[in-house]
Amino acid sequence: MEYREDLRSVLPYLPVVLRASSLFWPSPVVEALKALLNGPDHSKVDSGEVLFLAISDIRNSLNLNISSDRLASSAADGYALFFDDLMSRAEAKKWFGEVMPALANLLLRLPSLLEIHYKNADGVLINGGRRDGVKTGLRLLEPQEPGIVFLSQELIGALLACSFFCLFPITNRGAKHLPTINFDHLFARLYESDDEKLENKIKCIIHYFERIFSCMPVGNISFERKVLPLEHHPLCVSYPRINFWSKSVIPLCRFEVYNSGLIEDHSSEALEVDFANKFIGGGALHRGCVQEEIRFMINPELIAGMLFLTRMEDNEAIEIMGTERFASSFRFCGDFVDKRDVDSLGRRKTRIIAIDALCSAGKRQYEHECILRDANRNRMQQEAEDHFWVDGLRSKVSIFIFGD
Ligand SMILES: *[C@@H]1O[C@H](CO)[C@@H](O)[C@H](O)[C@H]1NC(C)=O
Ligand SMILES: *[C@@H]1O[C@H](CO)[C@@H](O)[C@H](O)[C@H]1NC(C)=O
Repeated sequence: MEYREDLRSVLPYLPVVLRASSLFWPSPVVEALKALLNGPDHSKVDSGEVLFLAISDIRNSLNLNISSDRLASSAADGYALFFDDLMSRAEAKKWFGEVMPALANLLLRLPSLLEIHYKNADGVLINGGRRDGVKTGLRLLEPQEPGIVFLSQELIGALLACSFFCLFPITNRGAKHLPTINFDHLFARLYESDDEKLENKIKCIIHYFERIFSCMPVGNISFERKVLPLEHHPLCVSYPRINFWSKSVIPLCRFEVYNSGLIEDHSSEALEVDFANKFIGGGALHRGCVQEEIRFMINPELIAGMLFLTRMEDNEAIEIMGTERFASSFRFCGDFVDKRDVDSLGRRKTRIIAIDALCSAGKRQYEHECILRDANRNRMQQEAEDHFWVDGLRSKVSIFIFGD
């Protein structure tokens, strides 16, 4: 594989190395993963406490930046608490005996999954099947640059396995305004706060891994950064000003407002809003537990976007299409079998739009500047939509925008 431009942008944020135009795990990592692959009799990894030691060993073989790539300080206690105290002995036996070897196997395949991904990346037929040269390879999707990344569910499984093992380098993520991606903070907060919500979040993720290893999903998921250009450009729609909206006579698209129920439970193929943080996922991998974070736990594949989507700006939105729902609810009442249809590109017809809400805006949200900001965000989705689900407290904002 040649050293591609898309790979170059994301390689510093991946744990694998590129050598002689191929991707590899460093050989000590391969040895450690092969030991895990052979099960707890061989690897001795049969508890959360030992698991964390294994994670540390693997990380030590990755050439991470020692000065800045430290894990959250209570992470070790968190892994031990979850797998050795909160999980039943029977479940833990299954986890270490069956799921852990499958995780190691998937991780071992990450380099080849990435190579297959990049080989296919330029042939994906987005936009009704036109081969129009759209780049879809895994790369950083940076501010003010519209673009789409198209990943298989299996590759996403491997990326989330890296998060579970805390293998993503974190040095320089801050400088690029990239969100947290490893799971160390999640386990650390579990230990520090002893909060049932954190336990539920981790249970959702654990359940996701159990499910994919009982039957690996074969679909695809796309992550798209949408930008309304701020500067006027003759060929595309630019960021409308107050004047545009106040003089516009174009009718709004059809929409329905519901004041009860949950977004994820509606069955029609509606657009679903993620009332997001600027950093996609918000506190999903920390303590946070509101609409966005809950959605990221019942559809954990959304977390993969946190690897490469930099902070959203006011004229941007992120559309994620195709994630599968694995849990019935955040309180984790059990399994959920997602029966949504799949489109021609293998994506489940679940279309989630992340637009970042104003932070504690109060009355300020009704000022011209703020209404313009939110109206324009919704404008980005308008062409194709006829429904717009809103729920929770913040729906007032959207109803106001659409109704007035
Ligand atoms: C390692 O991290 C430190 C502290 O964040 C940073 O100053 C330095 O540039 C990093 N080194 C590399 C090679 O990334
Ligand atoms: C997923 O996308 C790839 C192209 O990257 C395609 O070859 C494959 O058929 C798609 N999967 C499904 C289930 O449609």
